[in-house]
Amino acid sequence: MTDRPTILLVAPTFYDVSYSINPWMDPDAWARDPRGMHRHAMTSFQALRDALDASGFAVEVADGAPGQPDMVFPANAAVVLDGKAVLARFRYPQRRGEEAPFEAIFEGLRARGLIDSVVTLPEGCFQEGAGDCIWDVQRGHFWAGFGPRSSREAADAMSSHFGQEVVALELATAQSYHLDVCFCPLAGGEVLYYPPAFSEASLQVIRARVPAGLRIEASVDDLRHFSVNAVNLDDHVVMTSTTPHLRAELGQRGYRLHEVDLSPFMLSGGGAYCMTLRLDRSSMAARRAVAA
Ligand code: ARG
Repeated sequence: MTDRPTILLVAPTFYDVSYSINPWMDPDAWARDPRGMHRHAMTSFQALRDALDASGFAVEVADGAPGQPDMVFPANAAVVLDGKAVLARFRYPQRRGEEAPFEAIFEGLRARGLIDSVVTLPEGCFQEGAGDCIWDVQRGHFWAGFGPRSSREAADAMSSHFGQEVVALELATAQSYHLDVCFCPLAGGEVLYYPPAFSEASLQVIRARVPAGLRIEASVDDLRHFSVNAVNLDDHVVMTSTTPHLRAELGQRGYRLHEVDLSPFMLSGGGAYCMTLRLDRSSMAARRAVAA
């Protein structure tokens, strides 16, 4: 056992971009050089693993399954808090085949004591894991995205499963199809977010809960770099190669950036955060007061 926070990755052995279920996915670009792309994906994955290790994580790597290329994004597989994993229900048939292999992975993690329990959601409600249900350590609640993928009701289901407050945010564009594409709470209480991704009502919710000095607005360029899709641990931030704007902004606030070339995964609409899943999150973790 380790006292480092544990984070799950899925090896990209079976990764490719062979269908399109979000506007970033480009199967044609992949098909131009599948072998080269796959090699690149393997080296990018190793670089991500190294950056997470350098940031202080214990990295767990699970196997993917043939014919399920998007398993490389375990953020979509479950929501995990206080030792309990609530397994995802995918909206698109292309990803539903991931549910069984991920269930086996989580049962394996439970057998090894890395989590305590595994729960399945009832049918009829879509919920795409931690990509659409992000724990805010500072504020002690989840932020849940709904619209393109997860259902609005999934937020209530998460709230009753975990006994925690869940603040639902409506995603208004196809580009920001998961909350983690456009919203990232940071350890200092800041929230890095892309305002045009949200409905007006949801923007008001964000502004009411996050004071202006803690709101970091991402530009469309930051979004295109998948820079909002970042993994944060204390002052470490792991993300795709980012923009000068964000590099300066986060640097001024005391964050240390680990930039990784994840371009083969951006071709599927993913960045650093969606390639990971924290297994050790606790609702009791010490919070620093967020100045209102
Ligand atoms: N191709 C995947 C999909 O469309 C990408 C998922 C990225 N994950 C995330 N949490 N944003 O579902």
